[in-house]
Amino acid sequence: MDKLNILLLGSGGRESALAWKIAQSPRLNKLYIAPGNGGTEAYGENVAMSPLDFEAIGRFVDEKSIDMIVVGNEDPLVAGIYDEFANRPGLLVVGPSKAGAALEGSKDFAKQFMVDNNIPTARYRSFTAETLEDGKKFLATLKAPYVLKADGLAAGKGVLIIDNLDEACRSLEEMLGGMFGKSSATVVIEEFLSGIECSVFVLTDGNGGYRILPVAKDYKRIGEGDTGPNTGGMGAVSPVPFADDKFMEKVEEQIIKPTIKGLADRGIIYRGFIFLGLINVEGQPMVIEYNVRMGDPETEVVMLRIDSDLVELMEAAASGNLGDKELAQSPKTAVTVMAVSQGYPGSYPKGKEITGLEKVTESPVFHAGTKKDGDRLVTSGGRVLAVSSLGDSIADALLKSYNSLKNIKFDGIGYRNDIGRDLEKLEK
Ligand code: AMP
Ligand code: GLY
Repeated sequence: MDKLNILLLGSGGRESALAWKIAQSPRLNKLYIAPGNGGTEAYGENVAMSPLDFEAIGRFVDEKSIDMIVVGNEDPLVAGIYDEFANRPGLLVVGPSKAGAALEGSKDFAKQFMVDNNIPTARYRSFTAETLEDGKKFLATLKAPYVLKADGLAAGKGVLIIDNLDEACRSLEEMLGGMFGKSSATVVIEEFLSGIECSVFVLTDGNGGYRILPVAKDYKRIGEGDTGPNTGGMGAVSPVPFADDKFMEKVEEQIIKPTIKGLADRGIIYRGFIFLGLINVEGQPMVIEYNVRMGDPETEVVMLRIDSDLVELMEAAASGNLGDKELAQSPKTAVTVMAVSQGYPGSYPKGKEITGLEKVTESPVFHAGTKKDGDRLVTSGGRVLAVSSLGDSIADALLKSYNSLKNIKFDGIGYRNDIGRDLEKLEK
């Protein structure tokens, strides 16, 4: 078979890790990353093109004879990139159709989908400006803390967790009044669940075939000990010791299989990655959210632990036929520690020169917010570098990442020193 020309869309640490893995494939002819970042050029050619500019993407696909589009972030999926391109002869798109992307694009849709398919999730109801008073009454029936979620995409900021009922009622009013624009015209209110979270990724072929990828845990808060504001993710670990065989059997039987069947029953085409944001409530996995793409920084650790050829797997999934393709996982432990700009997740400076990467030998460093400025590499985002390592244990992998970080310099560099420490005590 001919080798593939692949167009990967996105510009973060996730896309760097995907590009790193794709570049290792014997099935690859040429990899393009749009728009990519200061690090992705090591794996392919950056193209200055927005993942949402379908017209430009269409022209590029023709010009460069692209065989497969891999979509990193959710926006193009929710905007319908699958429906736009998947019918072109000879072109594969890894991702769900627009209808499938609603699992992430609308929390109200996702909750209804879970209820319809008997998938364990927090009890909920949805409200609009017309039903504000009912929403306040519903809040009064719940115990604190109160969980309020904007229905639509809100760049990861649309979930509020509030301790006090009066404040929750006020926030509901503000959300419905446009706090997150159109995204919060509908608000999902749900029961608070308490437990440790993990991320499970599934690659599906839309014909009942699926593979479960390595499980990861993400560290969302900026501060050590899980304190301070939420970020895009400050680090990740894979595997997750509590996601043992017994837990994963429940995930597969109670969540993955009903999700895939539920999509098929509704006639929804889904040939790509499903991200299950789970919480372990005393041994029972419950779904906190669906995403329709890989996680960031989870991808950085997941890619380190996939021993099989990812291109072959994605090609099979996007063709609707995973068949008996193997997804081999490394028994090793992967960690990633995110180096961030000073001020993140609030406002932060850009353009700070990054040095010392040439001294890092033990860890693949996946660039997240970097760009080239002539010969210099400079910061261009809040999350800058995902310093990732593979080891025999969490401690072993962490030692490599933290040693590597000692060599990396930029003005205002920050990172959490406690990534994975909570899981170390659960490790056998
Ligand atoms: P989401 O965007 O839905 O993942 O929510 C963001 C974060 O809010 C999650 O990662 C959880 O930490 C937290 N969260 C969301 N829903 C709940 C819930 N029902 N109970 C407890 N925490 C939640
Ligand atoms: N790390 C969480 C996410 O990608 O949404």
